[in-house]
Amino acid sequence: MKRVGLIGWRGMVGSVLMQRMREENDFAEIDPVFFTTSQAGKPAPDVGKEGVPPLQDAFDIDILKTLDVVLTCQGGDYTTEVYQKLRDAGWQGYWIDAASTLRMVDHSVIVLDPVNRNVIDAALDSGVKDYVGGNCTVSLMMLALGGLLEQDLIEWVSPMTYQAASGSGAQNMRELLSQMGALNNSVKSELEDPSSAILEIDRKVTETMRSGEFPTEHFGVPLAGSLIPFIDKQLDNGMSKEEWKAGVETNKILGRSDNPIPIDGLCVRIGAMRSHSQALTIKLKKDLSVAEIEGILAKANDWVKVIPNDRDATMQELTPAKVTGTLSIPIGRIRKLAMGPEYISAFTVGDQLLWGAAEPLRRMLRILQE
Ligand code: HSE
Repeated sequence: MKRVGLIGWRGMVGSVLMQRMREENDFAEIDPVFFTTSQAGKPAPDVGKEGVPPLQDAFDIDILKTLDVVLTCQGGDYTTEVYQKLRDAGWQGYWIDAASTLRMVDHSVIVLDPVNRNVIDAALDSGVKDYVGGNCTVSLMMLALGGLLEQDLIEWVSPMTYQAASGSGAQNMRELLSQMGALNNSVKSELEDPSSAILEIDRKVTETMRSGEFPTEHFGVPLAGSLIPFIDKQLDNGMSKEEWKAGVETNKILGRSDNPIPIDGLCVRIGAMRSHSQALTIKLKKDLSVAEIEGILAKANDWVKVIPNDRDATMQELTPAKVTGTLSIPIGRIRKLAMGPEYISAFTVGDQLLWGAAEPLRRMLRILQE
């Protein structure tokens, strides 16, 4: 059994990972060691087995060196602080990481096994030890488009995203709800009176949103009742870092960085809680019928689900409200666009914390045990 160190298991992504590992009985197959940055010596969480040691210090290289695998959701600062020290100390174990720090380095593979199991297997054979989860938006798009990617049918994709608050962190999810509450409170009495004037309600809501009292500490600006068309840092070329990731990560995941598929669009934060949505404009390499496209998409993996391009089905099935908390990756709104027979639209939704973050990591741990 592999001795697996879990770091950052109490945070948001870490908690979703723990929940999935419990559900899938993953702890039965490993010797877990839980780490902490502040509470060494306290009892480890109950994972249904005996002999799990108390919490260990996450910065203690001598203890980390005893592990076969490190699985960290602690964040990029931890990776920056510890990874190289551990390697310099001669550690040869597997490093599985949710943070983006090591995603684009040459010695890592970005893991999304339903799409790139071949890349992962080749890396394992050649001795690669660093396996990093992809950007959530990228992983969710790739699971949805798995069939078209596998058959190399895509010439380019322009994803326009509708990203949930959770992508910014737990505090941002709370802030979104506080903003919603503040808006509602500002017009509570008017809402109770069906004859109150809607333009007066709108005026008060806008005033509240723009006031200095509105809670914007984490987002910087209102999100509830509004949106934010810029995610992550600004790059020199006008792109946001989130937009840059779509192209570079997708092609690295596919193992085709030297022959990349152009993937570029705008990333937008909206007031959803934890499911990211994306409207995709795709140019195919050939003119396929919608039925053929749907067939190719539907059979690529166990989680993608093609939703017929029908109003009711779309409203019921293709929303964050429906998908959140599940591993389902619906894709719908597939139709030919006016630009020509190779141009199609699609819309997809996925839980940003499950397939977008935790799931590829626990599956990588499973792959190491095969
Ligand atoms: N960068 C993503 C977002 C989340 O801000 O939504 C993590 O991949």
